[in-house]
Amino acid sequence: MKTPYFYSWTKQAGFLPFEVERGEHDEFVQPNGKRVYDFTSTSFQTSFGHSNRLIIDAITRQLGQMPIASPKAAFPLKTDASQKLLGLLGFNDGKVFYTVSGAESVENALKMARRITGKPVILARKRSYHGASLGAMSVSGDWRSDEHLNFTQGTERIPEPDKDPDASGVREAVKRVGAERIAAVIVEPISGTNGVVIPPEGWFQGLRRVCDEFGILLICDEVLCGFHRCGSAFAFQGFQVRPDMVCMSKAISGGYIPFGAVWVNSEMARFYDEQVLVGGLTNFAHPLGLAALSGVLSQISEPSFLENLNLLEQTFSAKIQELAARRAATAVRVRGMLAAIEFGERVLPTWHQFVQEGLYVYTKGSMLILAPPLISTTARLRAAFDQLEQGLQVHHF
Ligand SMILES: Cc1ncc(COP(=O)(O)O)c(C=O)c1O
Repeated sequence: MKTPYFYSWTKQAGFLPFEVERGEHDEFVQPNGKRVYDFTSTSFQTSFGHSNRLIIDAITRQLGQMPIASPKAAFPLKTDASQKLLGLLGFNDGKVFYTVSGAESVENALKMARRITGKPVILARKRSYHGASLGAMSVSGDWRSDEHLNFTQGTERIPEPDKDPDASGVREAVKRVGAERIAAVIVEPISGTNGVVIPPEGWFQGLRRVCDEFGILLICDEVLCGFHRCGSAFAFQGFQVRPDMVCMSKAISGGYIPFGAVWVNSEMARFYDEQVLVGGLTNFAHPLGLAALSGVLSQISEPSFLENLNLLEQTFSAKIQELAARRAATAVRVRGMLAAIEFGERVLPTWHQFVQEGLYVYTKGSMLILAPPLISTTARLRAAFDQLEQGLQVHHF
């Protein structure tokens, strides 16, 4: 089909799009009325479903009251949502810089880290994705950055956590590069689209120790893991580590409005008391984004949300393990409501084939990545695993 617009991350000729008319709760509804379970929360942002009243009502109210505000404006929603966000992060200090995407959150984190420390180098993992803009690509390590000219001369790689369980390889990298040149290290606490890689016990603490010893800032990219995706409000909390900066986007607004944020610690925030913050964007702290965030925070603060999430996590983990055993998976990794299952050399059905079975999933070669909406029900989640098995059978896997 020839369209007057592009599709992302694909060759355009012959691309078959996903026909969709609307979303309802944890499902897409196609024009022919067929329901498709959203097994990856779209691109990991519809954590709170497709028709969440708390988010929709918050945005609608804000649209009626003040749909746009100057980046320099102060208004109660801005203060209230920011304070509550600090609470969810578990911090009483520091400040939030607002953006409109994950990549922009990473861009601004890198800019601030370099400006405040006066150092040029950022340490990052090879098996990582931090966004498609030039700066975010320069620290990303997967195929999505290989194609373009970017600024990798300011990036040095650290070893993968599974090859470096005590983070001694990070220390070696620091010594090799020179601590006096390193501003920060950026990591996804659990790498998302690169296969839900969960660092071994102790790695994160080891990383924090190296950062403290050499005066290096620790940036956690929680764009995908944040907002209860990985068993805690933010994935870093599950490792008992305090970062210096946290990048957020995706589920921060449930995906209803493009929105993002960077939290910086109080010491870094103080730097800008006397220095000009050279950074900003037209849609900085957009009131509709803030309204969506306040809807998300209201949703998270409902006791029934966390009770249901707890049950979902148990069902999800059990079903993933069952599937892995039944289908002789070569690797399985699950944390909270995020999982990857690998099947060695065997080729999975395509995502189009899964759509025929009523499921929207993320496949990458022989790896399946699942991230169901956090407001699903255990019954619907179980049914989705039955559909998945059916899909594997029908497509001769
Ligand atoms: C961990 C992580 N960081 C950053 C990004 C970039 O976010 P965006 O696509 O909103 O720019 C993504 C997107 O998938 C991501 O998974």
